[in-house]
Amino acid sequence: MKNLIAPSLLSANFAELKKDCEMLNRSEADWFHIDIMDGMFVPNISFGFPVMKAIKRYAQKPLDVHLMIEAPDRYIKDFVDAGADIICVHAEACPHLHRSIQNIKSFGIKAGVALNPHTPIQIVENVLEDLDMVLIMSVNPGFGGQKFIPNTYKKIQQLREVAKNTNPELIIEIDGGVDSENAKSLYDSGANVLVAGSAVFGSDNPEKTIKEIKQLV
Ligand code: DX5
Ligand code: ZN
Repeated sequence: MKNLIAPSLLSANFAELKKDCEMLNRSEADWFHIDIMDGMFVPNISFGFPVMKAIKRYAQKPLDVHLMIEAPDRYIKDFVDAGADIICVHAEACPHLHRSIQNIKSFGIKAGVALNPHTPIQIVENVLEDLDMVLIMSVNPGFGGQKFIPNTYKKIQQLREVAKNTNPELIIEIDGGVDSENAKSLYDSGANVLVAGSAVFGSDNPEKTIKEIKQLV
C-alpha cells in the first residue's frame, strides 16, 4: 500500500466544516480522520453523530473513524450508519477485542485497533490476521496539538516485523504530533497512513501542507 495521509477534522474550523471538507476533497488527502471522544476513555469530548453525518454529506473520500470511547461495541452500528468506512477501537477499551473486531467486520467495513503510547504491540499479536489496520498513538489520545513521542518509531518497526508473517498487508497508521518534520521517517519506519491535525489545519495553506507531506515520500 502506498503512503497515505488522513487529516484530522478535530483541528478543522467547526463553523466552516463544509469549507474544510471541500478543501480536503480538492487536496491530495486520502482519508478524512474522524476523532470521537466521550469524556470517559479520554478526558475530552469532541463530537458525535450529527456532526459526523454532516461531514459525510460533503466528504468524497473514506471516513476513518477513531473511537476514543469506552465500550465502543455499543455504537458500531450507529457509526456505520453515520458513514464510517474504517472503524478503529482502542485495545484498552475492549476486554473482548476479537469480538469487537468481528463486530466491525460484520458490517463489511475495515476494522482497526488503536494502541495508546504505553500499550505494547503484543496486545494485538493474536488478532493480527483479523485486522485491516493498527493505529499507533504517538501522543496520549484526547487532544490535538501535542508533542510527538519518539518511542513510536520502535513500535512501528516491531509491529511491521511481527506482521510480516501473519498479515503482510496490515495498514499501520500513526496519530499524534505528525508534521512535515517527522513524516518521512515515519513512512520509512513502516507506517502507511499518517494522521495530521494541527500540522494541516494550523498551517497558512492546508492544501499545500498536505501536498508537501505526501511529496516527502
Ligand atoms: C488525538 C487524536 C488525533 C489528533 C491529532 O487524540 O486522535 O487524531 O487530532 O492531532 P495533531 O495532529 O494535532 O496531533
Ligand atoms: Zn485520531
